[in-house]
Amino acid sequence: MKIGIIGTGAIGSILAEKLSQAGHHIKVTNTRAMPELEKIAARLGATAATIQDVAKDVDAIIFSMPFNAYKNLPKDLLKDVAQDVVVMDTSNYYPFRDGEIAELEDVPESVYISGILNRPLVKVFNNILEHTLKYKGKAVGAEGRIAISIAGDNEEHKKIVAEVVDQTGFDTVDGGSLSESWRQQPGTPAYCTELNEAELTQALADAVKGKAPAIRDLIMDKL
Ligand SMILES: NC(=O)c1ccc[n+]([C@@H]2O[C@H](COP(=O)([O-])OP(=O)(O)OC[C@H]3O[C@@H](n4cnc5c(N)ncnc54)[C@H](OP(=O)(O)O)[C@@H]3O)[C@@H](O)[C@H]2O)c1
Repeated sequence: MKIGIIGTGAIGSILAEKLSQAGHHIKVTNTRAMPELEKIAARLGATAATIQDVAKDVDAIIFSMPFNAYKNLPKDLLKDVAQDVVVMDTSNYYPFRDGEIAELEDVPESVYISGILNRPLVKVFNNILEHTLKYKGKAVGAEGRIAISIAGDNEEHKKIVAEVVDQTGFDTVDGGSLSESWRQQPGTPAYCTELNEAELTQALADAVKGKAPAIRDLIMDKL
């Protein structure tokens, strides 16, 4: 596939490298000027693209940016992107880092991002730590393979995302619709707990709406 990745930080760069190694054609962008971006892209086995070009002529787009940076993206970025292009979002909201966003008391994080992008999307790669994503992938069928959850409203897109995840070395669990995606947000039992498929399925079911933000903030206080 041709995949555009927006953000080459911890998560975006690992995804670019792994998916390029899996045979995909990867374009990346970040906030840097072109000469520096070109060096980063080359290191990842990708090509450099401007923010305007990264979403053009691709089969899938992965947004992997700080939560509060999405509002800085060009407003019409996805306007001409066909509806069959799969859009993925890896983001998580941390108020200490991203500032308080009152709306998120009622709205799941990726529903909020979907509103900013004006586009349906699939929430994925958010409930796996950078270290886990980089080092703990295993071949399909291997014992103890870690699973990550996929939430979204388009079943066809979720199937494609599951294949992409598999190529990075992880199993997947269907986390339900995007409105159910609070079950995989920071502070939930499913968040970065390195569970296998059966355990993650249970963890998503065990999540209690409204409890996660307090747990998330407690963990950050302790860290
Ligand atoms: N780190 C983890 O373990 C982890 C795990 C799962 C999910 N997540 C979530 O995934 C997202 C990305 O995390 P990360 O740790 O990879 O973040 P990061 O290391 O801070 O990288 C963020 C990337 O976004 C780019 N960026 C910021 N604003 C941009 C803009 N307006 N246009 C284009 N690119 C822009 C940055 O560009 P520059 O390089 O030019 O600064 C950087 O490459 C976050 O929402 C995070 O919460 C993180």
